[in-house]
Amino acid sequence: MSPLAADLRTMLDRARRVAVFTGAGISTESGIPDFRSPGGMWARMAPIDFRDFVRSEEMRREAWRRRFAQDPVMRAAEPNRGHRAVAALVRQGKAHSVITQNIDGLHQASGVPDRQVIELHGNTTYAACLDCGERYEIDAIRATFEKDETPPVCAKCEGLVKTATISFGQAMPEGPMLRAEAETRAADLFLVLGSSLVVYPAAGFPAMAKRNGAALVIVNREPTPLDEIADLVIHGQIGDVLGGTVGVN
Ligand code: APR
Ligand code: ZN
Repeated sequence: MSPLAADLRTMLDRARRVAVFTGAGISTESGIPDFRSPGGMWARMAPIDFRDFVRSEEMRREAWRRRFAQDPVMRAAEPNRGHRAVAALVRQGKAHSVITQNIDGLHQASGVPDRQVIELHGNTTYAACLDCGERYEIDAIRATFEKDETPPVCAKCEGLVKTATISFGQAMPEGPMLRAEAETRAADLFLVLGSSLVVYPAAGFPAMAKRNGAALVIVNREPTPLDEIADLVIHGQIGDVLGGTVGVN
């Protein structure tokens, strides 16, 4: 175990309550590209702003085309060693919840109970009506979309149907934000795994934990803007670093 991983092991042993905070970097080892690494999503296409999605049928069509194009990767994605290490921390009672920016559902698939996953940016494994909240399954939407690429509207109220994710320009989900703040304030160790920490308000939680007296650990392949306030920074692959530290293969 590297000296830094040994430091992480000591901090985890000493911690009373760990808040785990994940970004797309924990899912790249499952084959899902992240956003800002070379070759990441935003290197290949511009995000679709929520206001454009609402305003333009063509943007809704493009958003659904992108979602269905991701299907093979999303379907093939399995939890990786990093997810399993996080699930072990939850099972051990070290971490009570996982605050995630990810929309892939892999923390739940790795065994973290859904009620202990706080999804700040929603979930892309299903869709919902923007007006009445009615839930729609992706497969059913795809079957209809493939006929003539008409973007889906709600069968109940004719509202616009969108994947249950939070896009740029869209209001953050109040419940998950409140739960994430409570978890952040209750933690004495805040563990960031695989995030560039550039998107707010999510990226505000690590600094909130630090201000609240928690130790801050960042495990990320690249440097982040918050490395300078962290108590421990490990630049490496999450699977190896956390899997090795927690003793999970
Ligand atoms: N191990 C460690 N770090 C990794 C790994 C890995 N296997 N793979 C990628 N990373 C790092 C990258 O170096 C990068 O710094 O994870 C980070 C991922 O950063 P982003 O791609 O910006 O993803 P994220 O921080 O989750 O983005 C936040 O932005 O576009 C929005 O809504 C989207 O939730 C997303 C938010
Ligand atoms: Zn509706």
